Amino acid sequence: MTTNIAVLVSGRGSNLQSIIDSVKIGYIGDANIRVVVSDVSDAYALARARDHGIDAVFIDPSEHSDKHVFEENILRTLKEHDVDLVLLAGYMRILGKQIIREYRNRIMNIHPALLPSFRGLHAQRQAFEYGVKVAGCTVHFVDEGMDTGPIVLQRCVPVIEDDTADTLADRILVQEHRIYPEAVKLFIEGKLKVEGRIVSVL
Ligand code: GAR
Repeated sequence: MTTNIAVLVSGRGSNLQSIIDSVKIGYIGDANIRVVVSDVSDAYALARARDHGIDAVFIDPSEHSDKHVFEENILRTLKEHDVDLVLLAGYMRILGKQIIREYRNRIMNIHPALLPSFRGLHAQRQAFEYGVKVAGCTVHFVDEGMDTGPIVLQRCVPVIEDDTADTLADRILVQEHRIYPEAVKLFIEGKLKVEGRIVSVL
């Protein structure tokens, strides 16, 4: 059975692109990206979606009376598109409880650090300025916390001499584009088992 995917974005959408490409070449099994939702009107990710004939929806947070109503609108969009799996790809908001309840263990996020270190914004810069020798990225299921859900896959990226926060972020991004499609593929093939915090690959 085809897995219908929604991707939530706020920006340039390079991770979205890696998912689109992976679906296109058949790397991610039986999947269909039904809709891309952005909370930013001019997010380049929306143009990427349209270029590939994917429904691209801007939902304006400022037009909603509160977060609850905004989230209900997103949830309605997911339902209208029969979405089975939600991917956060550079979506810069904390997801509300309604969506998490509805899609428990069916929402993934990519984060540019080795969680549980360096949660939140500018994680690559946080890691660089902390002076870590090994940085990296994480795909995790989304729970009610900020970057706290069960970890699916992680990839290490060594910090090298002459690195800046930007060069490190660029190398982390290369790995993000590898592990996110890998995690989605495992999910779609039914190979991820979640028990509490522990995600096993079957
Ligand atoms: C990526 O590096 C992603 O890991 C990060 O934002 C960037 C989005 O880039 N996400 C977070 O920091 C979430 N806490 P993209 O729009 O090119 O995919």
